[in-house]
Amino acid sequence: MSAVLVGLVSAKGSPGVTTSALALASQWPRLALFLDADPFGGDVRAGLGGGDWPPAAGLAELVVDLRNTNLDQALNRRVHRPAPHAPPVLAGLGCVGQSASVPWSQLGSSLARIHAADVVADCGRFALVDGVEPLLRTCDALVLVTTSSLRAVRSAARISPQLQKAAGVEPGDPRVSLMVVAADEPYSAAEIAEGCRLPLLGDMPKDAGAAAVWSDGARPGRSFARSALQRTAGRMAERLAGVVSSGSAT
Ligand SMILES: Nc1ncnc2c1ncn2[C@@H]1O[C@H](COP(=O)(O)OP(=O)(O)O)[C@@H](O)[C@H]1O
Ligand SMILES: [Mg+2]
Repeated sequence: MSAVLVGLVSAKGSPGVTTSALALASQWPRLALFLDADPFGGDVRAGLGGGDWPPAAGLAELVVDLRNTNLDQALNRRVHRPAPHAPPVLAGLGCVGQSASVPWSQLGSSLARIHAADVVADCGRFALVDGVEPLLRTCDALVLVTTSSLRAVRSAARISPQLQKAAGVEPGDPRVSLMVVAADEPYSAAEIAEGCRLPLLGDMPKDAGAAAVWSDGARPGRSFARSALQRTAGRMAERLAGVVSSGSAT
């Protein structure tokens, strides 16, 4: 069985892509690697890692390794699992502009062929230029992450056709879906999904305590595994994994 590659992306602002992608990877029904593919610079070293990350454990080093070694060996060297509650992580780029030197399309296709783990990619903010559109094209499913303000929803609606185009799917296909973070402030998740013409994967509750574990490396408390964020991520991960496995069967 080859791996499934799922990408999370935002339209604008900072709705919680990194947090939600880490939560999904941690709750994925199989082992899932978290790939920090934010083209504007990765956050996990300073965030989840709290600034304490092996210096050579990241995507830029993996890309160099791939000139001489195969992907499995390169992943073995460059993936780091920062804590028992965290998924294995390939940390992202350190410099703005580095994204242009990453062969995203080739990397995505290679990752889709690994056996040991699925991949949840944090693709950051969507951009046609200087973004990771070639990686998005290789994903089996894409999730557009948005908050529920009118500004956020308008920018999400603007890029949803581009995501469907990148994925090669028609509007309504669950392989390009929507995640609403902190819905009802003021628009409901269902209203936003309709406005964006995207199927709703789900709404991620506001849960600052659990979110800080992923975004800022806060120490997880005893109730972290049962937190609203983690439980919701578990349900979304199941649903998304189901969509992808049925999509790949067609
Ligand atoms: N579900 C959530 N509930 C509460 N706060 C959240 C949630 N998701 C993210 N956050 C917070 O929002 C901020 C931005 O999150 P982050 O994941 O870095 O966003 P992005 O990757 O879209 O820039 C962080 O402070 C994070 O803790
Ligand atoms: Mg981020």
